[in-house]
Amino acid sequence: MDLHARIDTAMARAVALGQGGTPPARLAEALDYATAPGGARIRPTILTSVALACGDDRPALTDAAAAALELVHCASLVHDDLPCFDDAATRRGKPALHRAYGEPLAVLTGDSLIILAFEVLARAASEDAQRAAQLVLTLAQRSGMPGGICAGQGWESEPQVDLAAYHRSKTGALFIAATQMGAIAAGHEPEPWFELGDRIGEAFQVADDLRDAVMDAEALGKPVGQDAAHGRPSAVAELGVEGAVARLRDTLAGAIASIPSCPGEAQLAKMVRMQSERIMPAAVRHLA
Ligand code: IPE
Ligand code: IPE
Ligand code: MG
Ligand code: MG
Repeated sequence: MDLHARIDTAMARAVALGQGGTPPARLAEALDYATAPGGARIRPTILTSVALACGDDRPALTDAAAAALELVHCASLVHDDLPCFDDAATRRGKPALHRAYGEPLAVLTGDSLIILAFEVLARAASEDAQRAAQLVLTLAQRSGMPGGICAGQGWESEPQVDLAAYHRSKTGALFIAATQMGAIAAGHEPEPWFELGDRIGEAFQVADDLRDAVMDAEALGKPVGQDAAHGRPSAVAELGVEGAVARLRDTLAGAIASIPSCPGEAQLAKMVRMQSERIMPAAVRHLA
């Protein structure tokens, strides 16, 4: 099974868990809407690639970790699009979830997906209880306060923004979770994998700022020009388009150089290179 199919299967199984019995039908349907067909699935792809590079000796645990991480990511997007945050009308080329199902179900969908993520990890404890507990801790730390997505979103309500902390917690945190959870699922120490996740996260944030500045909404499947419109700090505002492209290129080179030595090191470097080509907007590729 290729990586994409493996991740989609794990996601479908996880979401089905949240739809069992006789649940409220619209909320159950909204769980599908928020998670399938997904976006680029970049975080679970990185997680599973790191696990494979480390031997992937408990594939069911890897799959649970990949699904849990992507569930939290999907939840963060549903909440992020709400009128009280970015008030976005579209996501992944469809109406944002609150536009399709209403705000109460959007709040509940995000909540349900986050809780489901931790249920999936708790159930995976039957594979290896100690690793599952480490996965729960890592995902919690990178999702909540003080350094996870909640913190990242929280920075937007501060009068003065610490740009590095904002980006690292809003976007970087789930990439750090991706590399570290991949290592943990395969029984490796998470610490050596921090830097790779951190650097990929930084690159991804710069790429996202570039996409927001240079792409159109149809190609991107979500509103563009949001950073400028909300007066948000961004790599493009700080460095200009060319400067941001240079920052992206350097950060990715650093990411690849930071891969810890492991059996699948070369294959993993190839995956990071592939993902970097995907995140660089076509319009600025000639500058790279
Ligand atoms: C978008 O993430 C949100 C950010 C953190 C910038 P992705 O670009 O990974 O979203 P999907 O999952 O592919 O739609
Ligand atoms: C959303 O960040 C990612 C979260 C961590 C919730 P943004 O608001 O910058 O990303 P998009 O442009 O809506 O995907
Ligand atoms: Mg936002
Ligand atoms: Mg947004």
